[in-house]
Amino acid sequence: MNDLIIIGAGPGGYRTAEYAAKAGLKVVIFEGAEVGGTCLNVGCIPTKTYVHSSSFAEARERLATVVPGLRAGVEGILSHPNITLVKEKAQFVDAKTVQASTSGETWSADNIIIATGSESKMIPVPGIDGANVVDSTGLLNLDTLPGKLCIIGAGVIGMEFASVFNRFGTEVTVIEFLKECLPALDADIAKRLRKQMEKEGITFNMQCGVKEIADGKVFFDNKKGQTESVEADVILVATGRKPRVQPDFAKAGFVCDERKGITVDDDFKVLPIEGKLEGVYAIGDVNGRQMLAHAAEMQGIHVVNHILGKEDGIRLDVMPAAIFTEPEAACVGPSEDQLKADGIQFECHKSFYRANGKAMSMGKTEGMVKLCCEPDEGKLLSAHIYGAHAADLVQEMTAYITLGATLRQLRETVHIHPTLSEVLIEVN
Ligand code: NAI
Repeated sequence: MNDLIIIGAGPGGYRTAEYAAKAGLKVVIFEGAEVGGTCLNVGCIPTKTYVHSSSFAEARERLATVVPGLRAGVEGILSHPNITLVKEKAQFVDAKTVQASTSGETWSADNIIIATGSESKMIPVPGIDGANVVDSTGLLNLDTLPGKLCIIGAGVIGMEFASVFNRFGTEVTVIEFLKECLPALDADIAKRLRKQMEKEGITFNMQCGVKEIADGKVFFDNKKGQTESVEADVILVATGRKPRVQPDFAKAGFVCDERKGITVDDDFKVLPIEGKLEGVYAIGDVNGRQMLAHAAEMQGIHVVNHILGKEDGIRLDVMPAAIFTEPEAACVGPSEDQLKADGIQFECHKSFYRANGKAMSMGKTEGMVKLCCEPDEGKLLSAHIYGAHAADLVQEMTAYITLGATLRQLRETVHIHPTLSEVLIEVN
């Protein structure tokens, strides 16, 4: 009998397999498509390859080597003697057994982790099935650069692609339902980022609802209720992702919803429909908690620790996130509005890239830092950064917040001069 079956070899699945195998568990991991999942094949890695290419042609060329190279790396990880990789889709027979979809072979284990990820959510409007309407995977598969791109949804995917295609020379128009872009971000940061992207030539139609796609045009109602339209060669639908659930999940007897995914407890154990259910877990996008590759990885490591009866200090409540636009935006912890809504006493401290020596020397003076902490330069609660290398700076703040440090301790930490990181200790 194997110790652990993992369904899905995305970042959640393969990292968990690696960690479990190194801890001595016998692991079987199933993957019905390519190892690496959405992140490596059609998500984070391809988009970051685009972000770091100077033209569409260069991006396409680099993609052809970056993705297979990383995929080979994952296959290397999964060649560990304690891991069996089955390149087939797994389907539940019961809560301890799965069946490989093609060979029909069955596999059993004491524990099963579901890490099947998510897929694009399309909106129910007429014309959404049109040939020129794509999701993020379809956009990454284009062989030619579109002249005009209309993006529906100013969330993470919409903003990253708007930024990169605008830089490649495409005319980009964004249509968003809400008043501001990036609903999960601190409003101050989101607004500055949108304004900067507007200056760079991207058109934003905020508070607009898409009605129909027809004859190469997207029709939408603007905030005054008038119908407008945008012409586009390609239309990207970036209106969110939904957990990837399978009909056979019902056979294992746990709570699962088409829209919200698999319900889990704080150890990522699935909740039984009735009675008791031991040893079944769901990590990553499929549980709908935090749709981020690094969240899936850490959830998986926590599950393995739980299986091994090992305590850990992983702080899944301190979850950094970044948006790789130009400039970048990143955050960790609650936004200013969220802190207010929660009735938490806090103070806000800001600084600007334009006053930072390294930013000046790099010619990257557009940007700001907002740190929220308990009163009197107390315990750090959150960090919101917009500007060059925001993700790296937020990573430093994630360490402070995880360790419970105060703003005063941050200021007392020596920072190398000249670096962008000094912008953190330069807050007012
Ligand atoms: P999202 O939830 O971030 O944003 C979707 C946006 O579409 C929202 O602003 C929403 O108001 C808008 N919208 C929804 N229906 C609409 C309609 N009918 N008309 C106009 N606007 C509409 O979803 P997104 O960008 O698709 O990303 C999916 C997931 O992937 C997210 O959970 C995200 O965290 C993750 N992701 C993370 C990345 C990163 O961390 N850098 C990169 C890419 C994706």
